[in-house]
Amino acid sequence: MKVLGISGSPTKDSNTDTLVKAILEATGAETEFVKLSDIKVGPCIACMKCVHTNECIINDDFKWLSKKVMEADAIVLGSSTFYGAASAFTKAFVERLYSKRHVKLLTGGKLAATVAVGVAAEKMVGEWLGNGLRAGGMDIVGGMTAKGTPCCFVCGPGETCAFPVWNAYSKELTGMDFGVEEAYKGYLELLPDNKPYQHGSARILKGYRSVKDEPEVMAEAERIGKLIKEKHGTGK
Ligand SMILES: Cc1cc2nc3c(=O)[nH]c(=O)nc-3n(C[C@H](O)[C@H](O)[C@H](O)COP(=O)(O)O)c2cc1C
Repeated sequence: MKVLGISGSPTKDSNTDTLVKAILEATGAETEFVKLSDIKVGPCIACMKCVHTNECIINDDFKWLSKKVMEADAIVLGSSTFYGAASAFTKAFVERLYSKRHVKLLTGGKLAATVAVGVAAEKMVGEWLGNGLRAGGMDIVGGMTAKGTPCCFVCGPGETCAFPVWNAYSKELTGMDFGVEEAYKGYLELLPDNKPYQHGSARILKGYRSVKDEPEVMAEAERIGKLIKEKHGTGK
């Protein structure tokens, strides 16, 4: 069995990379990892030239990457959450898979798993990833989400920023409960004078959140990798 892991996170050794790699490893199969930000895969230009050929005419790294997709029995696709959506790297890759769908549904029947990492909206990204791969006829064996590092923890100004990300996702502004306060309890202390749009007051307790420090998150990645192995029938 061949398993291809693809990360749409542009951050070096990111949480998304870690989880995609952990799933790959747990499959016990022949695996390969590709980081989309290291190569050039642009968005679909809707030229529809692929309709009868199943080949995308854009001359970039999707040419060889699509061959690897076709050779793989299973795909593990991970993305960071940017502006409530998959990263642009990930979005472009999924759009380009369109070329393999027409008429023959060439990606049909491949096993797939998804990883979405974010601060608040990663579940939406996880669903989108699953739907995108399902549209290519793939069989989604498992999907996982994990909490990552809010950019405000690492960008520098941090606590002094007037509009940090935890305010952008506050109940007060969105009308929704993304659970950010609860999820970042040990990492962040919101101060009583924290008011979205007025004064983003908080104390950052820990500067980085790594899934490697969260055994249950790593265990979920392992579980999904093993599921791929089982489902492919090589694990018994
Ligand atoms: C440009 C940018 C936009 C972001 N927007 C969101 C967002 O809308 N929702 C969210 O949950 N996290 C958002 N984040 C935080 C990232 O999802 C978070 O840092 C996560 O750890 C990224 O995963 P990675 O480190 O594996 O790439 C954003 C980060 C950046 C750099």
